[in-house]
Amino acid sequence: MIEVTRRDALVGAAAMLLVDQAVGAVPPNASLQGIAAQKGLRFGSAVAWSQLGVGGGSPAEPAYARLVEAQCGIIVPENEMKWQWLRPTPTTFAFDRCDAIVAWAARHGLAVRGHNLLWHQPKWLPGWLNDYDFGARPQAEAERLLTTHIRTVVNRYGTRIGSYDVVNEAVRPEDGVLYTTSLSRAIGGAEPALDLAFRTARESAPQAQLVYNDYMSWEPGNGAHRAGVLKLLEGFKRRGVPVDALGIQSHLITQGTGVGGHVLRLQGEWRHFLDAVVAMGYRLLVTELDTRDNNLPADITIRDRAVADYTRGYLDVTLSYREVRNVLAWGLCDRYSWIEGFEPRPDGARRRPTLYDSRFHAKPMREAVAAALAGASER
Ligand code: XIL
Repeated sequence: MIEVTRRDALVGAAAMLLVDQAVGAVPPNASLQGIAAQKGLRFGSAVAWSQLGVGGGSPAEPAYARLVEAQCGIIVPENEMKWQWLRPTPTTFAFDRCDAIVAWAARHGLAVRGHNLLWHQPKWLPGWLNDYDFGARPQAEAERLLTTHIRTVVNRYGTRIGSYDVVNEAVRPEDGVLYTTSLSRAIGGAEPALDLAFRTARESAPQAQLVYNDYMSWEPGNGAHRAGVLKLLEGFKRRGVPVDALGIQSHLITQGTGVGGHVLRLQGEWRHFLDAVVAMGYRLLVTELDTRDNNLPADITIRDRAVADYTRGYLDVTLSYREVRNVLAWGLCDRYSWIEGFEPRPDGARRRPTLYDSRFHAKPMREAVAAALAGASER
């Protein structure tokens, strides 16, 4: 555990004060994108694609579409660009849902991020790829598969996608070591596989921002994960791999009530990490913000307050880095959040991890994000 010095405490308190003063300037009906834009930031969210009535956080749902249109300047497909969704077989691509999201964004003047070109874990790759027979020249075949995939996706969307999570979650959180997949085994190591992914993306989309995206966070227990990500980013620099930014997923987890103390305690190591990343010359993005209401009672008022304050504290620290230009939530509405399925609350109460409740009403977390954006310095 890090020691909170008096100086840290004063800096934290001063930051909160500054933010509180700035919030007064936010018009009550301002959209999150509107508030962000005043600071040179952009706000957005993940969206899914499904038929009307199926739900799932798709713009096919009119109420969800209205919310995204009203609040966002950028969107990202939640699943539709991943290999498991896009690649039913080694020789085919199923672009329909991803195309639909990109077309919807264009109709509504929204920017799009691509997520992702390589989720470097067997668990998130299609079964056929995990079991693939790479033949007599496995390295050449694996390189062909990977580069064909990346070129096909990136060429299809051209300048309509300005930023890609080229590689997602390559680092094992428990020890910071890189995962092995069928592709990386055939290519002769994780590093050459990841390097190839970035180099191929750069060749095909020289204009796009190329991002390494991961969930190392500021909560206790993330030290090995953060160290592994730093090592990977250092390696990219050393080898001249074209990586522009670190995507910080920001799937936050509340530590209980008494949030101010948690924020003060966590921010020191978090700043050390972010300092090291920006010192290497990387930009930063918040790519998948949501907040899991752990260690809190079921009472909705208490939970929503703690979630909001914790999110605010996190964003105040993280947005103090001018290298951050984009903040994306992983879904805007509790009704569609993946957290409910991923980690339900042990007491069975429904999760409330996003900015709007299941009836599309703004929650305290929405005000917290608005205040953090309003309090950010201009960039
Ligand atoms: C999640 C989606 O939200 C779920 O619908 C899906 O079942 C699994 O993936 N990190 C990421 C995202 O990079 O792609 C994940 O999205 C959440 C964690």
